Amino acid sequence: MHTVYSRINNVSAFLSSCLMALLAAIALSSLVFTADPKGILDVQSLNIYEGHTRRYHNRWQDVTFVNFNLTADLTPLFNWNTKQLFLYLQAEYVDAKGVKNEVVIWDRIIHKKDKANLSLNGRNKYVFRNLGKSFKGASAANYTLKYNVMPYVGLLTYGEAARTGPLAFPEKRTEVA
Ligand SMILES: *[C@@H]1O[C@H](CO)[C@@H](O)[C@H](O)[C@H]1NC(C)=O
Ligand SMILES: *[C@@H]1O[C@H](CO)[C@@H](O)[C@H](O)[C@H]1NC(C)=O
Ligand SMILES: *[C@@H]1O[C@H](CO)[C@@H](O)[C@H](O)[C@H]1NC(C)=O
Repeated sequence: MHTVYSRINNVSAFLSSCLMALLAAIALSSLVFTADPKGILDVQSLNIYEGHTRRYHNRWQDVTFVNFNLTADLTPLFNWNTKQLFLYLQAEYVDAKGVKNEVVIWDRIIHKKDKANLSLNGRNKYVFRNLGKSFKGASAANYTLKYNVMPYVGLLTYGEAARTGPLAFPEKRTEVA
């Protein structure tokens, strides 16, 4: 015997499985349309100054300043399932001790497709220093523009939109930053 209650229950179970199927379809369909846009990243200048730090008992630590420009049309990453885009610029190098470092020096969150066609001059937003005191003996660094696409439904996806060739760290400047 079917009561009204169990009928409502069946209908809502049916609706929620429809909803699950719909969400899965959205997540899958946006995977089918993965774009892989590429831009151009140029590092205009690299300068190293001696900065003060609380680490190492208030003595000096080298700080690197990076000026870059970037053109990248990332609008293809926006589809119906894109909530936002997290962009970041990363320096990758091997320090004098042989440890590989990946340091995020700049980032930006993009919420709208019409803000995703980038052409900009920038410099590092976060302090770029080595865990040791100086960059002496470090390998040349590659600078890469990476992104995370945050969807409404489904998993984060990652990608790389631009990279420079290896660029050597310059000699330290004598002025204090
Ligand atoms: C960066 O700027 C330089 C000169 O200002 C220009 O030659 C170069 O094409 C620019 N690169 C990008 C990726 O916009
Ligand atoms: C930088 O990129 C080059 C290839 O362009 C690669 O051979 C090198 O290992 C990279 N360096 C680092 C520190 O990742
Ligand atoms: C992005 O900007 C470039 C130059 O600023 C332009 O040529 C291109 O058509 C733009 N792309 C889109 C999708 O608006």
